[in-house]
Order: sequence, then structure tokens, then C-alpha cells
Amino acid sequence: MLDYSIEAFTMRDYEAVYGLWRETEGVGLSSADEPEQIAAYLERNPGMSFVARAGGEVVGAVLCGHDGRRGLLHHLAVRSDSRRQGIGAALVERCLEGLRSQGIEKCHLFVFRSNQSGIEFWRSQGWEERLTLVLMSKDTV
Ligand SMILES: CC(C)(COP(=O)(O)OP(=O)(O)OC[C@H]1O[C@@H](n2cnc3c(N)ncnc32)[C@H](O)[C@@H]1OP(=O)(O)O)[C@@H](O)C(=O)NCCC(=O)NCCS
Repeated sequence: MLDYSIEAFTMRDYEAVYGLWRETEGVGLSSADEPEQIAAYLERNPGMSFVARAGGEVVGAVLCGHDGRRGLLHHLAVRSDSRRQGIGAALVERCLEGLRSQGIEKCHLFVFRSNQSGIEFWRSQGWEERLTLVLMSKDTV
């Protein structure tokens, strides 16, 4: 088993995390993932986003935050050579602990419909697919 630690995500890890996200299938990156936006996100949501580190390298990462009512989790990724060792589940649990500690009782996430293994992971962790909801989005600029 891999010897890993779960640590707070800080901007010192940004390059490594961005590289992991870029090489991870199922993670969709956008202008919202540029350094300035991620720094702002981490500042707004302290203590809720995490990296997993093994042998000094980032092998997993997740972003999490809330709007005062509900939590939102983004970009969970575990390096392909480090999967099925509990790292993904441990990262998510730390996020949920962070939300609970702020009184947030429910968390949502987005997953691409094409990401069947991602969907299986979330189901195995007790997440419910919301068949009665449709995600709608609009650019503000
Ligand atoms: C999804 C992902 C984060 C899981 O990370 P992981 O560290 O391998 O997950 P864990 O080891 O914590 O898995 C815990 C349990 O989840 C389930 N699980 C994990 N990966 C699974 C998969 N690909 N298919 C089905 N079930 C899965 C299993 O029940 C597993 O327990 P087990 O290994 O004892 O059978 C990782 O596969 C990944 O980075 N995938 C690509 C990115 C992605 O899809 N992210 C999520 C969408 S936002």
C-alpha cells in the first residue's frame, strides 16, 4: 500500500495539481482553473480543499467549498498509478468533514455523463444521481 498523507491544498501545489488535472480523464478544465481563480477559491473556502502526497509528490487533489447553504465539490483526481488505495475516498471524506464543521448538510458535484467509472466511484461512496434535475448554465460575460 502507498504511504500517503492528506494535506491542505495551497497555491504551492498549484502547478502539480494543475498537471494532475490536465492528465486526468474526466476532469474538465476551464478559465476558472487559472492560478488567480484557484487562489481566490482557496481563500474563500479555507480548509476544504486537499491534496494527497506520496513520496513528496502530489498523487491526488480535490477542490471543495460552499455558498453558505450547500457544498460543491470539484475536480477530484487521483494519479492513475495510485488508484484503488483509498485516496479518492479519503480526499472526499476530508471535504465532507470540512463542510460538516461549517454546518453545511449537503454537497453536490458535477460528473460528465461519459465518465462511467467516475459515476461508479461516486455511487460506491453513497452519492445519489439526481434524475429529476437538469444542470443549466449561462455565461455572465
Ligand atoms: C474516481 C477516482 C478519483 C477514484 O480514486 P481512487 O483513489 O482510485 O478511489 P478509492 O481507492 O478511494 O476507491 C474507493 C472505492 O470506490 C470504488 N471505486 C473506485 N474507483 C472505481 C471505479 N473506477 N469503478 C468503480 N468503482 C470504483 C470502489 O468501491 C473502491 O473500493 P475498492 O477499491 O475497495 O473496491 C479516480 O479513479 C480518478 O481520479 N478518476 C479520474 C477522474 C474522475 O473520474 N474524477 C471524478 C469525477 S469528478
